[in-house]
Amino acid sequence: MDKFVTLTYEGKEIQLPLITGSEGESAIDISRLRAETGLITMDPGYANTGSCLSAITFMDGETGILRYRGIPVEQLAEQSTFKETVYLLINGRLPTRDEHTQFSIMLNDNSLVHTDLKAFFSNYPRGSHPMGILSSMVNAMKSFYPALDTMEEEINITMTRLLAKVRTMAAMSYKISRGHEIVLPRPDLTYCENFLNMMFDTPVKPYEMKREAVNALRVFWILHADHEQNCSTSSVRMVGSARVNLYAAISAGIAALWGPLHGGANQAVIEMLTKMENGSDSCAKVVERAKDKSDPFRLMGFGHRVYKTYDPRAKIMKKMCDELLESMQIDDPLLDRARELEEIALKDPYFIDHNLYPNVDFYSGIVLRAIGIPTNMFTVMFALGRLPGWIAQWRESTDDPLWKISRPRQIYTGAQKYDYVPMHAR
Ligand code: CMC
Repeated sequence: MDKFVTLTYEGKEIQLPLITGSEGESAIDISRLRAETGLITMDPGYANTGSCLSAITFMDGETGILRYRGIPVEQLAEQSTFKETVYLLINGRLPTRDEHTQFSIMLNDNSLVHTDLKAFFSNYPRGSHPMGILSSMVNAMKSFYPALDTMEEEINITMTRLLAKVRTMAAMSYKISRGHEIVLPRPDLTYCENFLNMMFDTPVKPYEMKREAVNALRVFWILHADHEQNCSTSSVRMVGSARVNLYAAISAGIAALWGPLHGGANQAVIEMLTKMENGSDSCAKVVERAKDKSDPFRLMGFGHRVYKTYDPRAKIMKKMCDELLESMQIDDPLLDRARELEEIALKDPYFIDHNLYPNVDFYSGIVLRAIGIPTNMFTVMFALGRLPGWIAQWRESTDDPLWKISRPRQIYTGAQKYDYVPMHAR
């Protein structure tokens, strides 16, 4: 039976339909609100606003649940490959063996990057942040790979190109930043192995592939693969809602992810822990600063808009971090600082009252350091992991029967009408 919520405004009652999702979450459909009452709603940061119906990712922030297409992320991190998870997110189900082989062939065939893109890279000023470079490079791909004949072909090939080439481009940007020769992808390596090889192989020192590093990257990417309507994904959907091409929409997502409150937090966590390790900030001082409302500083890698309990991704990341460092016999002092900080913060009344727990970024930087990724590439690693989620969400939005261009309203608070004063009279 259809359910409604009754709103009473200026003596008039209106019935607003209640929408319920497959996991029992409910929303009030206010799409007729303005037409019927003249009112709009106000929700800064969209904390209470659903922007779409989506069948991709389910999160329960109160109990710490994350599922991709219904499958718990813990199971995927334990048993799946990144490539298979990508297929799952984009196509809605796990691939058969044949589909998996076909997908691998398509990714391999599309993994080379147009050689002219290399010149594009080389002209960036030294020291440019790789996220700025990646965002503009992905946007530039539209010029290098013009439109295909049919819409279906355009969507399928563009998605494959992005998944295959952005990984190559990320490794390429690292090599160029070091002034080294580019290493090309190899058909005999897996998706994760290929990336590590393109990053670290050199003619004078062949990369020694470590099973633990490949596994850590696999888990890292699976944990980042999608996270429903977060800031970057909403940017992809919003920019995409103008029916712009997929490259431009993903480029917008990369730009949003760069921010330290979002994907950039993994870099910010390591910078914070490094300062603590250098002795410039003590653990207690960091916690005090994070609580001080007159100080804009926040405890990086802590807190989340949706999770009001321990982030399920952070749980897996923390366990993996411990195991990885132990099996690779790495003694990273930043891990000790992170553990100390977590222990103090989780006992502090401010963090308890505000439901602030470590998020995915708290331990992820230590994992990336252990596999040799430089700090300024951390957010690029997040972007590579999130790429399938952005693509899946963009694709879902293009098929959405409720699709509309994103165009929020506002309540104007500026000056009321007054007359123009010519320059000589001011
Ligand atoms: N340190 C100190 N106080 C915090 C923190 C923090 N990390 N996070 C939230 N708070 C406080 C905040 O000051 C506010 O306090 P009060 O109600 O007393 O004014 C309260 O908690 C609620 O914060 P909010 O800013 O309204 O929460 P939000 O949902 O808008 O922000 C967040 C979520 C992730 C931006 C925020 O928790 C934060 O800035 N965290 C640090 C950055 C970070 O680690 N980001 C990575 C997020 S996970 C990866 C991803 O998917 O992006």
